[in-house]
Amino acid sequence: MSDRIHTLSGYFHEYQKSVTEPEKFWARIADSFHWKKRWDKVLEWDFEGPNVKWFLNAKLNITENILERHLYTLGDKPAIIWEPNDPEEEGRTLTYRQLYHEVCRFSNVLEKKDVKKGDKVIIYMPMVPEAAIAMLACARIGAVHSVVFAGFSSNALADRIDDSKAKVVLTSDGNFRGSKTIPVKRVVDEALKSTSSVETVIVYQRTQEEVSMEPGRDHWWHELSEGVEDTHTAVETDSEDMLYILYTSGSTGKPKGVVHTCGGYMVYTKYTFENVFQYSPGDVYWCTADIGWVTGHSYIVYGPLLAGATSIMFEGIPTYPDAGRFWAIVDKYKVNQFYTAPTAIRALQAYGTDPIEPYNLDSLKTLGSVGEPINEEAWHWYHTHVGKTRCPIVDTWWQTETGGIMVSPLAGITPTKPAYATLPLPGIQLAIMDPDGKELIGNSVEGNLCIKFPWPGMLRTTYGDHERCKQTYFAAYKGMYFTGDGVKRDHDGYYRILGRVDDVINVSGHRMGTAEVENAINEHPLVIESAVVGYPHQVKGQGIYAYVICDMKNRTEQNLVNEIKDTVNKIIGPIAKPDKIQIVPGLPKTRSGKIMRRILRKVAEGSLDNMGDTSTLLDPEVVDKIINGRVE
Ligand code: WT7
Repeated sequence: MSDRIHTLSGYFHEYQKSVTEPEKFWARIADSFHWKKRWDKVLEWDFEGPNVKWFLNAKLNITENILERHLYTLGDKPAIIWEPNDPEEEGRTLTYRQLYHEVCRFSNVLEKKDVKKGDKVIIYMPMVPEAAIAMLACARIGAVHSVVFAGFSSNALADRIDDSKAKVVLTSDGNFRGSKTIPVKRVVDEALKSTSSVETVIVYQRTQEEVSMEPGRDHWWHELSEGVEDTHTAVETDSEDMLYILYTSGSTGKPKGVVHTCGGYMVYTKYTFENVFQYSPGDVYWCTADIGWVTGHSYIVYGPLLAGATSIMFEGIPTYPDAGRFWAIVDKYKVNQFYTAPTAIRALQAYGTDPIEPYNLDSLKTLGSVGEPINEEAWHWYHTHVGKTRCPIVDTWWQTETGGIMVSPLAGITPTKPAYATLPLPGIQLAIMDPDGKELIGNSVEGNLCIKFPWPGMLRTTYGDHERCKQTYFAAYKGMYFTGDGVKRDHDGYYRILGRVDDVINVSGHRMGTAEVENAINEHPLVIESAVVGYPHQVKGQGIYAYVICDMKNRTEQNLVNEIKDTVNKIIGPIAKPDKIQIVPGLPKTRSGKIMRRILRKVAEGSLDNMGDTSTLLDPEVVDKIINGRVE
């Protein structure tokens, strides 16, 4: 059964119901799932604690709603179609029946390795079907997965292992990525030198490169799976048991583990998937994200598979072997819904339309965008050259913390406007707040985006530190969830996301805390102090600009800059590497010692004429020195 909305008036009608009677609304949606035991109460909440519980005391297993539920009706239908990095290598298709058996088999493997309900399992893997199988096997036995993007460094991986106290790491020998191979197992080995909680490492063989295997701890995936039963009885979980932890950056130095739970997340991801993309049975859907990010969790694995959809999983990158790869895949599998990030669109835009020419793309019905604001130019290019002006674009605004899409057009239903995420989904009550904590009512207003009422997919806590969850999201505006984003509601009541208002920058759709990058830079022994800001970047959306005070010793500036980049690469990973580093004699500080980031942002973006009021600076002259040394 589907709860799909079909018309614009239908949307307004559902939205109204979801606000006036939210519990009744979500109970109706939840009724179409398989629960081992129904809930006693739909919702309990306060945003002070915060304390949010959905479908209280209900029992379920999310994988039964993906696997058993579809076994008899869709058993032979492709669940996952896998396209490898190298177009010459043969892809793989897993039907719902095959996926069921693979998940069952790996659930048995994990249980044989003594993984139990509540245990934490790190997944540090390439985009292969086994990564999705691993996630689902964890969910099936009630273990908590924490996927770490395989581009993170050993340091970043070690932090996440430590914070989650993971007992198991699932990884691969290596990863194929474009023309490169990445020695993933070596990164894991390095991370495990400084952590103590991991008892078992299971290695999926992908690149066949040689790796070292520690006896007793490390095992090959294929060896452990041999002869293991391919049926398994799903463990009963509570609606509010943890489903997964996913680490994300914030405005303080340390990434936090966003916690999602089983029942509400299940209901929310399927509902939003079906409605936003207007998925019809038989459609082929492709989201280009990596499972290391929340988009991969909610809209490659959980949402589509809960809906019985065919979900494509792509191992490679948009420009390998050439800039037409995405379009080749769209034609190859006759993709109907295509979901990607503005940064990918802009990167491909730079190659012009020649790489698109050979493909007809006529299977496409809906295009999606996610991860950062999409600029109008990229929107039009996507609409014209990919969608041939025929396909609606759904600009989906949401966050790791929200679990699923929050503000977005419904494909083909909500009239779109370039760069606008348009309207909230049913159940989502938005508020625009001014800096004094007053809600701005009516249209043509701009302020900070908050959410007034809980939704089933929202985060429940940050792992191991509930106070941090409270301070980060529920303290700025009393009784509300604060998103960290600025927003405008235009004269039509449409929402346009303006970007982060905190010290978070969005680089190629990846969230980076400026403090996190500063901490990494400061690890270099000659760095005395640093300040990092974002600046507009043609392809990445935002680039990273670092101002660094150094003890030069006998280094040249260029040497030092390269060393600092390497340091960041090692501490966090390539995605955090600063685009520009300026060695400065000082930073613009107020008398109370606070860095005036406003000035640093202006210099980074090149608006040098008006620095605003600098009279409270301790040393106003430093501003001129910074302007003079600006890195183009
Ligand atoms: C931040 C969340 C949601 C999955 C990917 C990113 C920005 C996300 C949009 C959009 C404008 C967007 C926001 C948000 N963002 N989607 N459609 N328009 N901005 O998840 O890493 O948790 O980042 O990404 O600033 O707060 P994330």
